[in-house]
Amino acid sequence: MPKALFGPDFQFLPHREVLTFEEIARLARIFVGLGVEKLRLTGGEPLVRRDLERLVALLAQIDGVRDITLTTNGSLLAKKAQALAQAGLRRITVSLDSMDDAVFRSMNDVDFPVGKVLEGIEAARAAGLAPIKINMVVKRGLNEDSIVGMARHFRGTGMILRFIEFMDVGNTNGWRMDDVVPAAEIVQTVNAVYPLEPVDPNYRGEVARRYRYRDGAGEIGIISSVTQPFCRNCTRARLSAEGSLYTCLFATHGHDLKALLRGDADDAAIAQRVASVWQVRNDRYSELRTSLTPGTPKVEMSHIGG
Ligand SMILES: C[S@@+](CC[C@H](N)C(=O)[O-])C[C@H]1O[C@@H](n2cnc3c(N)ncnc32)[C@H](O)[C@@H]1O
Repeated sequence: MPKALFGPDFQFLPHREVLTFEEIARLARIFVGLGVEKLRLTGGEPLVRRDLERLVALLAQIDGVRDITLTTNGSLLAKKAQALAQAGLRRITVSLDSMDDAVFRSMNDVDFPVGKVLEGIEAARAAGLAPIKINMVVKRGLNEDSIVGMARHFRGTGMILRFIEFMDVGNTNGWRMDDVVPAAEIVQTVNAVYPLEPVDPNYRGEVARRYRYRDGAGEIGIISSVTQPFCRNCTRARLSAEGSLYTCLFATHGHDLKALLRGDADDAAIAQRVASVWQVRNDRYSELRTSLTPGTPKVEMSHIGG
């Protein structure tokens, strides 16, 4: 949420337009009834929602949920980690794009330092959240020099550092192909200092490709959403704060579930609506972008470790 777009004059949603925790939990139960096993709280910044741990506790009570996690910028994590873990959060992903304060701030337009994020990560570890994943978006000319420093910091800690190709999220970030450091180049950069070998995916459709350090210092992940998009393996449904269902990160049109929730629809009717949206989804934004963007490198990542 860049300050230039979401400054003091921005009209945020009135509170009544935002789903209550009970409404989110009801929808989550319906989605789980349709086969969903993993729930992720993200955003926006999920920890700015007051008493978020109350939502985590509601979600943790749903039978059939295999995994609950949360992605955060870490700024409020030191305060919240313990309460989140007690409420039933199992693991966490923290975004951190550099160990260097100036680089971190220039990338994120935030008013807190790297140290604050590291404190949050430490609190998450102390609270028993595991595994902790660290997301680093790599942007050409901004933080590619931070790749090795980040690898060095998180090697041997049990945390999993994931490098993410810079994407054109929401068309708001002035994205150009030139801004993307291809995944293969990121792997080569790390491999040159800390030799790597590929690891099999944990499950079909896993977003990150896994590599481990040959010296046993743990593993990293690479998310190549631009150079090797994975639309056809994507199984994610997204629910916005105001209750719209999106079938793609890049979708501009959502499907309103709030009207059903607040009308007289019962759970079966809502489930039917969700299923009917899901069954006809055909999103493949990233695959189309890649085929239409001149200069997208078509890179093979198999050069490391065979
Ligand atoms: C959009 S954030 C939302 C959650 C939370 N506010 C945070 O900062 O982690 C979710 C993840 O998307 C990643 N992300 C943000 N902008 C991105 C971009 N342009 N390309 C690729 N990933 C991006 C972030 O690194 C973060 O880990």
